Amino acid sequence: MSRPPYTVTLIPGDGIGPEVMAAAVRVLTATGIAFEWETQQAGASAIGEHGTALPSQVLESVRRNKVALKGPTETPVGTGHRSVNVELRIQLDLYANLRPVQSLPGVKSRYENVDLVVVRENTEDLYSGLEHVVVPGVVESLKIITEKASTRIARFAFDYSRAHSRKKVIAVHKANIMKLSDGLFLDCCRKVAREYADVAYDEMIVDNTCMQLVLDPGRFDVLLLENLYGDIVSDLCAGFVGGLGMTPGANIGATGAVFEAVHGSAPDIAGKNLANPIALILSGALMLDHLGEKDAAERVRKAVRAVLTEGRTLTRDLGGTAGTTEITEAIAAGV
Ligand code: NAI
Repeated sequence: MSRPPYTVTLIPGDGIGPEVMAAAVRVLTATGIAFEWETQQAGASAIGEHGTALPSQVLESVRRNKVALKGPTETPVGTGHRSVNVELRIQLDLYANLRPVQSLPGVKSRYENVDLVVVRENTEDLYSGLEHVVVPGVVESLKIITEKASTRIARFAFDYSRAHSRKKVIAVHKANIMKLSDGLFLDCCRKVAREYADVAYDEMIVDNTCMQLVLDPGRFDVLLLENLYGDIVSDLCAGFVGGLGMTPGANIGATGAVFEAVHGSAPDIAGKNLANPIALILSGALMLDHLGEKDAAERVRKAVRAVLTEGRTLTRDLGGTAGTTEITEAIAAGV
């Protein structure tokens, strides 16, 4: 792994993106680690200047630096440009989406002691973008599942579990209905599981998984899912720990990684200093882990926990009255 100063591609994105990105940069800088930030525009905000939501220089920058911190980018529903996230993941082959979901002190939630990790396949499934009109009134959307992608995401989940002393991987599926596609996914997971005798393995149907999660998320450790199930289940899990403002994420490939919060661009609160920056700050901590800066990553997480425990400087979504900039300064002061 490279040594500091680390050159990191910075994609502020749309809506609250620039606000939470300024917050994350402030806190990461407070760790004392030297960064060189290479700012790139992507998303709706890039279209005016570059004519595309994902200019080629963004991809080139991430390819060169191998690490990026990204804010949310807007995607029009039903029409318009393809999601920048989907495009980035596919173009850079960021095949593993990692979303740790942990209860944090002082955050209102019906659930306590949640400590699970969602590992989602990021490159295929119904997100392959292969849709067409068969005849007027009938459309087809293709679900692509391959042995290669299923095997490498399963291996990622088991390697991650081993490296982070996780005990059990549960592969989530609907192979009772999609016997071929989800059946292949499960076959690959089973084969990989046999290579990791130290990590327990189980399987669960996706609808039952959702119910079991809502009843008792504390019983889950690592969830291994295809792309669509992973997308839905990870947002469900975000709800256990205080919502979208709290959950970090990472998209990891063999040659690069993009770190971003689970939440979107929140146009309803953009530009008002109301956004909770914790999700992107914790994504920055995941980036520090990835860079091998474990001590700094832990300091960032500790500073976040301290501000939440103290409960005096909280944003509106956490029941407080503080703005983005105030909570950011409180966290940065504790790093
Ligand atoms: P959203 O996550 O932007 O907002 C959902 C709700 O959560 C809103 O009420 C918003 O105010 C609130 N919220 C989200 N993040 C927050 C934060 N940090 N602090 C406080 N409140 C927060 O989801 P929505 O409305 O479905 O999507 C808006 C746009 O974001 C869409 O264009 C969508 O495509 C895009 N999006 C982008 C993502 C990405 O780039 N990774 C992920 C999800 C959505």
